[in-house]
Amino acid sequence: MAEEVLLRMTGISKLFPGVQALDDVHLEVEAGTVHALMGENGAGKSTLMKVLAGIYRADSGQIELGGRTVTIPDSSTALANGIAMIHQELSPVPAMSVAENMYLGREPTNRLGLVDHRKMVLMAQAVFDRWSIAVNPKSVMKELSVAQMQMVEIAKAISTDARLIIMDEPTSAITEREVEHLHRMIGSLKASGVAVIYITHKMDEVFKISDFVTVFRDGKHVATLPASQLDRGKLISLMVGRELTQMFPKEHAEIGEVAMSVRDLTRKGVVEDISFDLRKGEILGLAGLMGAGRTEVLETLFGIHKADAGTIKINGKVVRVHAPADAIAAGMGLLTEDRKLTGIMGVLTVRDNMIVASLPTYSPGWVVQKGRIEAACTGQKDALAIKTPSLDQVIKNLSGGNQQKVLVSRWLLTLPDILMIDEPTRGIDVGAKSEIHRLMSGLAQQGKAILMVSSEMPEILGMSDRILVMAGGRITGELSRAEATQEKVLELATPMVDQSAA
Ligand SMILES: Nc1ncnc2c1ncn2[C@@H]1O[C@H](COP(=O)(O)OP(=O)(O)OP(=O)(O)O)[C@@H](O)[C@H]1O
Ligand SMILES: [Mg+2]
Repeated sequence: MAEEVLLRMTGISKLFPGVQALDDVHLEVEAGTVHALMGENGAGKSTLMKVLAGIYRADSGQIELGGRTVTIPDSSTALANGIAMIHQELSPVPAMSVAENMYLGREPTNRLGLVDHRKMVLMAQAVFDRWSIAVNPKSVMKELSVAQMQMVEIAKAISTDARLIIMDEPTSAITEREVEHLHRMIGSLKASGVAVIYITHKMDEVFKISDFVTVFRDGKHVATLPASQLDRGKLISLMVGRELTQMFPKEHAEIGEVAMSVRDLTRKGVVEDISFDLRKGEILGLAGLMGAGRTEVLETLFGIHKADAGTIKINGKVVRVHAPADAIAAGMGLLTEDRKLTGIMGVLTVRDNMIVASLPTYSPGWVVQKGRIEAACTGQKDALAIKTPSLDQVIKNLSGGNQQKVLVSRWLLTLPDILMIDEPTRGIDVGAKSEIHRLMSGLAQQGKAILMVSSEMPEILGMSDRILVMAGGRITGELSRAEATQEKVLELATPMVDQSAA
């Protein structure tokens, strides 16, 4: 055989209480290749990678690296074996600097054995320079955007000189431009003989960068094929076990009166003079590149941040929103972009996570109506096909995509008139994606008004009745569904050179 098998995993099984996460799976990866690991939410992708990275212990099975059998009881052993993992759920230490986060647990030391901060910053800077990453190593982690944190996480993995890098949905939080950047980085890693195992729910990426594709379904190995022998349809049917007929099931909805009217909303230095009307039955897409201010618009409307100026009218009446509770009372719901930091309450159950925003509805006169809660949550679990052994499961044990579905259901249960969603299907598999899109479409038909931020161009183009494009904290243009194209959106999203000069 000409090719060099770097990694061979065989007979790997892993049982969690109530879930056979992995059932006798195998995976072979050659040096200098990109191997995509595909499958629906909960298929077992992250679990297998965590076994490889020393985070989980498999119940059975064997791992060979470069022909030698190895045991990987912890993450430092994984690193010592040249295996680095970029995790699906970012876990930065918010109060520490970028450089400290990058070299956590492997800090350079001086002659006295103390951490050499100066050297650490220089080392981080060298990695950023080498890979053209625009982040200051001295910045405090919590001040970075989610996308920047993601780039730091990527840089961290690369800086370990690994021969195998696991990337678990590395592009779920970054926009097209950084995605291309990452793909170029992967190209040079490959050229230097590094193997990359790549997990993504974005179909286009798979065909762009991978050499081989392995598909898992329900904890089982379904197929491994060269990417050249697959196409989109074939891959999807291997993943979901059936054909998907419609990708963006946007139905016609009657567009009604103005539900929310925003005028001159400003948060100095962040968003400026945001004005728009959102109508009943309408899905209004908010497009733009990373840092354009889209999330900030939603968060300011929802009362997470204080606006410096501007008015919000709901159903023609001025509302004052000082805190999220005011927004919820006014009929708004917000599905946040970053489930780990602002959405998920990790140690609580699926049920509690679902019901938390609508508890008042289910406890009139202070009596908690357990039966109604049970029915409502079960209804959501079924409607969104949330994969969990029960509603009592602690949410952090769910796969990434299933956690996202729980958050979607949290806001659906509040029955908001105005639903603001930030990246609604980030990390969600193709089947569930079209499920969520169908739900959004259905909500619009019921007369709900939906404001959707998305970095996925097909989603913006496929689901929006109208698109507002933002750049540099301002709205730079508006496109109707009929006139919108990827080129037009990108043109409006790319800020002019030095707008501030005027
Ligand atoms: N620590 C845990 N405790 C209990 N169950 C778990 C744990 N981790 C994962 N699971 C379960 O194992 C199954 C596989 O999860 P895994 O995270 O590997 O899926 P995935 O393929 O990465 O999905 P996604 O695309 O949503 O990230 C899921 O049913 C999940 O709920
Ligand atoms: Mg996962």
